[in-house]
Amino acid sequence: MKGIFISEANGLRLGITLTVTFAVISISTAISAYVFKRKSNALNSKIRELEASLKSSIDKCVSERQGRIRAQQALRKELTQPKSENLKLTYYPMSPIGTIHSCFSTRNGTPRQPLLVPLARASLVFNTTRVPPASLEGLAEYSHCWILYVFHLNTDLEKLWKNPSQSGFKAKVRVPRLKGGKMGVFATRSPHRPCPIGLTVAKVEAVHENMMLLSGVDLVDGTPVLDVKPYVPYCDSIKEAAVPNWLMVDNLLTVASVSFSGEFTSALENCWTIAEKKSLYASPGEFQSLIKQVLSWDIRSLSQRNRPHDALSKKENDEPLANTSDVDEHQDETAFVHESEQNSPNSMEVIYHLILDGLNISYKIDQDGNVIVENVSNSAVLDNSSNSCNYLTWKDKLQ
Ligand SMILES: *[C@@H]1O[C@H](CO)[C@@H](O)[C@H](O)[C@H]1NC(C)=O
Ligand SMILES: *[C@@H]1O[C@H](CO)[C@@H](O)[C@H](O)[C@H]1NC(C)=O
Ligand SMILES: *[C@@H]1O[C@H](CO)[C@@H](O)[C@H](O)[C@H]1NC(C)=O
Ligand SMILES: *[C@@H]1O[C@H](CO)[C@@H](O)[C@H](O)[C@H]1NC(C)=O
Ligand SMILES: *[C@@H]1O[C@H](CO)[C@@H](O)[C@H](O)[C@H]1NC(C)=O
Repeated sequence: MKGIFISEANGLRLGITLTVTFAVISISTAISAYVFKRKSNALNSKIRELEASLKSSIDKCVSERQGRIRAQQALRKELTQPKSENLKLTYYPMSPIGTIHSCFSTRNGTPRQPLLVPLARASLVFNTTRVPPASLEGLAEYSHCWILYVFHLNTDLEKLWKNPSQSGFKAKVRVPRLKGGKMGVFATRSPHRPCPIGLTVAKVEAVHENMMLLSGVDLVDGTPVLDVKPYVPYCDSIKEAAVPNWLMVDNLLTVASVSFSGEFTSALENCWTIAEKKSLYASPGEFQSLIKQVLSWDIRSLSQRNRPHDALSKKENDEPLANTSDVDEHQDETAFVHESEQNSPNSMEVIYHLILDGLNISYKIDQDGNVIVENVSNSAVLDNSSNSCNYLTWKDKLQ
């Protein structure tokens, strides 16, 4: 019979070999198990150590945070405490984040409400030490934005630093639409408010680096801006909102027509070589359209409209007329116009001056409310306002 035969001796040898092998395996297994156990003990204790350290870090963080919050609360309380009995003011960490560079060089001529003058452009230049350009990401996707600003040209600002009982602050203001009638300050948008903060809405034309180009603005050049927020129609516009009757009279402050004298166009072209360096307008033609839009609204003050010749005896200055506030909605607190009497024997001839984009524009208005724009020259006074951008900055972004 053929087959595999293992001799007795060979069988014994194989048995020993297997036994030794098993022994070696079980010893090494035991050693591995031992090593593993030690290692895992070490790991477990390491984990416990780390857990303890993590817990103590978290505890420390929590208590640090609580301490910090307590310190912040204390500081806030300290900062918002009245500084003295005479000056009962509260302070919050608010200062301007940027400045408006607008075509309205002075308060006079600045529209009384936003969006009345679609061509009214302004650059809002953000202060990069307070606001990194990344803060503006996404803003250009909105068509309009709210702007909170300071009425920095109010001549009665210093009053607000006084004790309220001594400030002589006026609770009621004259409203142009009411022909001199008065309203409580909070029923108007008068700049003369206990807290001189303005709110307006503007069209967002473009955003570039730390700058924004706006249009439809009613903001005077140099206005400090406190905040910008997107305009969100579904919650910011209320269809059924009601206003008092005196606000419904819409055409009260418009003029009959605006036309230009024969010499005006060439006078503007002469001025343009200087003006265009700072201007947000592409051409003299576009600037002329701006003048037309601005003067379509009667920008004279109430007293000038009623008695244009009394106004002539006044000195040319920017001080308010009396203690009353003769305005409603905007920076132009007295709607002051610089006037000069012409040598003409016809005493009805009153020439008004409007400063737009640093250009001094002279015009007259006849009894029927027709505006005739006479002349334009570079304004000496406002030649070096530091405008960091002009039309060329925005050219590519406007079309
Ligand atoms: C920008 O903000 C800083 C810090 O508040 C301030 O010191 C600086 O004067 C501001 N710059 C301008 C141009 O307003
Ligand atoms: C106007 O203000 C002056 C001080 O600025 C004050 O002496 C005067 O009494 C005020 N007049 C009225 C009518 O309030
Ligand atoms: C227009 O203004 C310019 C510059 O001030 C002056 O030279 C010119 O005489 C004025 N023209 C008229 C018609 O008043
Ligand atoms: C504007 O021009 C008139 C006369 O041409 C002058 O009296 C007035 O001071 C000028 N205003 C400014 C701000 O340059
Ligand atoms: C305007 O600029 C001129 C030089 O071009 C300078 O002499 C003058 O002091 C500046 N005015 C202001 C108010 O900075």
